[in-house]
Amino acid sequence: MVFADRIALVTGASSGIGWELALELARRKCHVALLARRKEKLDELALQCHALGVRTAVAPCDVTDRQATLAAIRSVQEALGPIDLLIANSGVGLPTNVDPMNWDEVDRMIRVNYLGVVYAIEGVLPEMLKRSSGHLAAVSSLASYKGMPGESGYCSSKAAVNVFMEGLRIQLRSRGIYVTTICPGFILTPMTEAHDFTMPFLLKPPEAARRIIRALERRKKVFNFPWPTTFLMKLLNWLPDWIVAKALKNYTGDNMPLKEGGHRGP
Ligand SMILES: NC(=O)c1ccc[n+]([C@@H]2O[C@H](COP(=O)([O-])OP(=O)(O)OC[C@H]3O[C@@H](n4cnc5c(N)ncnc54)[C@H](OP(=O)(O)O)[C@@H]3O)[C@@H](O)[C@H]2O)c1
Repeated sequence: MVFADRIALVTGASSGIGWELALELARRKCHVALLARRKEKLDELALQCHALGVRTAVAPCDVTDRQATLAAIRSVQEALGPIDLLIANSGVGLPTNVDPMNWDEVDRMIRVNYLGVVYAIEGVLPEMLKRSSGHLAAVSSLASYKGMPGESGYCSSKAAVNVFMEGLRIQLRSRGIYVTTICPGFILTPMTEAHDFTMPFLLKPPEAARRIIRALERRKKVFNFPWPTTFLMKLLNWLPDWIVAKALKNYTGDNMPLKEGGHRGP
């Protein structure tokens, strides 16, 4: 995909990976629509993107609110035109406890990480179908490949994204619409910076954004990165539970030190 003069919508643009993705797109002269809850952050980012010579629109909204998300997407489409590229990136990472179970946080992860992606796609898809052109991308996680102790809610929310995107990709293959699922390993963002443990093969957000944009350029179906973390996560699926429990005891479950706001997996 050539980004110059196209229109991209990035959800979760107010921070971390989404912020850097929007800047990287603007550097490639792609006009950007920015969506998240914190309007002041979106305005700040819009100024930086504007300074790179592109048009911008901000759409503050909560992606768990379907009507608000659809209205926000309508408003940015009115301002910039139909969306060529959606990067549904909004996400939250919270631990899953069992005693007692924190059902409300699990509920939130499913609603933001999974339904937030579905609603964003619902908002942009009609115009893409009308034009038989477009690219849908969702930021999932390498954590989607294994149900990890203390991470069941997060891992399952991301696994749901993978399967949803896979089905769409096959369904849309003859409609001119590309679909990419992005599965990062550990990236140093506000989501992970509270971690007290060493995150293997940690990347900074600008590097993550550059790699993601290159993968979108190549229209990759699924982009797992970096490869050493991908290898480790896939290896976990071949190991018996007792080894996984032992291997992850410093990363997951009740033993892991976790500051407020942090979650455990990538
Ligand atoms: N960091 C990692 O190691 C890592 C690894 C794998 C995958 N990921 C995934 O990458 C994506 C970006 O995460 P990040 O690391 O960049 O974290 P981050 O810096 O905490 O950014 C999360 C973004 O999601 C937005 N968001 C959260 N709840 C929202 C809601 N209800 N409605 C709209 N927007 C919402 C936040 O904006 P507001 O608070 O302003 O709404 C923020 O812009 C997430 O999907 C995450 O699961 C991260």
